[in-house]
Amino acid sequence: MKTADPKPTLLSQYKPPNHRIDNIFLTFKLHPTRTIVTSKMTITPIKKSKLFLDGSELKLKSISLNGLDYLSKANIQKQGLYFNSSDLPGKPYILEIVTEINPEKNTSLEGLYISNGMYCTQCEAEGFRKITYYQDRPDIMAKFKVRVESDLPVRLSNGNKTNETKNWSEWEDPWPKPSYLFALVAGELLSFDDHFVTKSGKKIALKIWVREEDINKCAFAMDALKKSMSWDEVNYGREYDLDIFQIVAVNDFNMGAMENKGLNIFNSKYVLASPETATDSDYQFIEGIIAHEYFHNWTGNRITCRDWFQLSLKEGLTVFRDQQFSSDQNSYSVQRIKDVIQLRNRQFAEDSGPLSHPVRPQKYTEINNFYTATIYEKGAELISMLHKLVGPKAYKETLNLYFDRHDGEACTIDEWIKVFEDYNKIDLEQFKLWYDHAGTPIVTVNEKFEKETYTLKFQQQLNKKNKNPKPFLIPISFGLLNQQGTEIIQTKVLKLHKKEQEFKFENIKTKPFPSILRDFSAPVIINHKTTDEHNAFMLKYDTNEFNQWEFGQKLARSSVLQTILKGAKINSLFANSIKDILNNSNLDCGFKALLLKLPTHDSLTEDILKLKKVPDPIKIHQALHSTQLELAQTLQSNLDDLLSELIPFNDNELIKVGAGERALYASLLKLNTFLDGGKLAYERFNEAKNMTDIQAAFIPLMSTKFRPQAIRQFYKDWKTDRLVIDKWFALQIIYCNPNDATEIAEKLSAHKDFDFKNPNRVRSLISSFCSGNPAGFHDVTGDGYKFTADWIITIDKINPQTAAKLCTAFQSWKNYDKNRQNKSKEQLNRILLTANLSRDTKEMIDRIVSKA
Ligand code: ARG
Ligand code: ZN
Repeated sequence: MKTADPKPTLLSQYKPPNHRIDNIFLTFKLHPTRTIVTSKMTITPIKKSKLFLDGSELKLKSISLNGLDYLSKANIQKQGLYFNSSDLPGKPYILEIVTEINPEKNTSLEGLYISNGMYCTQCEAEGFRKITYYQDRPDIMAKFKVRVESDLPVRLSNGNKTNETKNWSEWEDPWPKPSYLFALVAGELLSFDDHFVTKSGKKIALKIWVREEDINKCAFAMDALKKSMSWDEVNYGREYDLDIFQIVAVNDFNMGAMENKGLNIFNSKYVLASPETATDSDYQFIEGIIAHEYFHNWTGNRITCRDWFQLSLKEGLTVFRDQQFSSDQNSYSVQRIKDVIQLRNRQFAEDSGPLSHPVRPQKYTEINNFYTATIYEKGAELISMLHKLVGPKAYKETLNLYFDRHDGEACTIDEWIKVFEDYNKIDLEQFKLWYDHAGTPIVTVNEKFEKETYTLKFQQQLNKKNKNPKPFLIPISFGLLNQQGTEIIQTKVLKLHKKEQEFKFENIKTKPFPSILRDFSAPVIINHKTTDEHNAFMLKYDTNEFNQWEFGQKLARSSVLQTILKGAKINSLFANSIKDILNNSNLDCGFKALLLKLPTHDSLTEDILKLKKVPDPIKIHQALHSTQLELAQTLQSNLDDLLSELIPFNDNELIKVGAGERALYASLLKLNTFLDGGKLAYERFNEAKNMTDIQAAFIPLMSTKFRPQAIRQFYKDWKTDRLVIDKWFALQIIYCNPNDATEIAEKLSAHKDFDFKNPNRVRSLISSFCSGNPAGFHDVTGDGYKFTADWIITIDKINPQTAAKLCTAFQSWKNYDKNRQNKSKEQLNRILLTANLSRDTKEMIDRIVSKA
């Protein structure tokens, strides 16, 4: 167990290493409770100084230097060991260290651990130190050779296999890499095999390793992998660089997946899929995450990070690349809308509360707490802005220069920006503020129309949370429509770089309609007062699909807000617009489904806060409910026809084809349930053949009289499939009546299938409760807070990373009324007072409690 260590790491204190590790040869004698690790390193001194090797929870067996026993020279501490500089040779030497570790006892899922009978590793960010003593920092790049000794039939590590007998295998990775990319896997596994021929004609073996029972669920992931490999060649000129690429699916994993060189380890949720068990949305995540980890081979592995403050260098860029890939596979606008919904829900929320931090943070206590929406998703938005600012052609060429210049290096974000400056001969000093300043910029827009001149005035609100706030460089994609709905100015990028700036457009005959921030060209909040009429008009006529959706959301939000604040009925402009959309046969079904989605609970909360009012989660919940009911009533005469048109698409042979139709079908079936109490949904539930349709029917049933029987039936059908049972936990808690939510969550946490050691199960119940059922979580009694805190405390003892993630449920506590604040505070204090709280959870709670 890590102990609470208040000492933060600072970016300003970065020092380059004084000792290089050129090669490491690792031998593992695998044993569930006593694994012996022998590490033989070639070390080159750069500067005469002491050598510190990180190590955590290791049993040290022996040390030798150039063959001499050196144990007595080592100064052993809690967080590692060091040798005094006087005890170290002045030229390269061999240091051999033997340690013993206990994978079975390792429930933190960091370092070497056992999941479902197989050995696996997770080393990013600082897990390697739980395997052996090492300079566990990403700017130490060594060539790894690994020997795995075990009776288990499959033994894997990074790189290419060089030798093997019945009870050992040797692997060699020719590319120097940081320790966080090390991986080892051993177990009884089967591989789903294929191959890929690179653009220069090299044949690469591809293997996806799974348990026997899952071998029929690998085809889609394999296909996604091959598409990713080819996409990266075509779009970034990046070719794969080993003879083999392997993916392993494991059940117990803290995050989504990990890009270990040549041996990606995945949460099984993001590999395994069949139409019976995975939804269309699961398929899309699998495709995106397979691509993400594969793309890391160049953006992350070949070019890595100098230190963890540069995390977004690899993560932001790789997310941007996987988003580009996904929109090429699907539809640009649909992908963009989904990405922006995610960004607003997760990143904007983070950035507006106590956990707000810059894309390049200045300090951290526990780096695992910084694998956040800001580093990943906002980081990707910054790349997207650079892409917009220089244009796609120059972007591509700049990236080539980046790969040429920095291949094989551990880099900084400054070096990345410098490549853009050099190639495009521009100054990006102002743009860099995006990396250093936290918070979401707010841009207010005012319009003026006079004498055939249309003026747009932008004002940036400087964020006072930052020391010395300055205006940002903000690319604003923009277009103009006339009163007839014809576009008179096509999309162009306005570069906003001052606190206040005006753009004039001449020869405009009548007052036009602006379409601002098309495709969400910058991660900002636009403050632009528009009428419902304007929103409805733009929803209909804007040529930019993203903004069509955006105006639709504005219209919907204004309607739901009136319901929340004044108990008003649904806005008829909104209801009629939805009707028009549904009857418009020119629109793609997937896009229609998105247009039909009501604003999220969180975005309404934000709107209410903007009005300087205190949000009441139950009222928001009720308003969303009544809006759907009234919408269903408005559409009553169309629903039957629309639904029967869509049903033929529900065929379990279809993967992706028909996903849009199925999404639309799901929304309509839900609306229909408001009218028939679930009669049709229950029929469809019993007939559904694929998981997308099963879920589409199951969700609306959760608030009808059919709930108990649907829950029973679902469990009976799927009790042996853990990924489907994760859905069973999640859906019944997300879609239950908020007044019953805590009680249901408590009951479910006592269910025999609830396993708090498994992060997927924890997320499916506890995170789903906190973020999926906000009105339940924020119940006035405070029971939801207590339930969550109890689990944070329990899980922290075995898996600090997962416990720390759960703490984010409390990040918005100050937005609520005094009663809720007090009740949250009580729980936060209780967590803080827990004995032996992990450094991870302590840092999270400290930040949540203390800052504004
Ligand atoms: N680099 C991985 C990815 O982006 C995430 C691993 C993070 N793991 C952690 N324990 N913090 O896919
Ligand atoms: Zn990543």
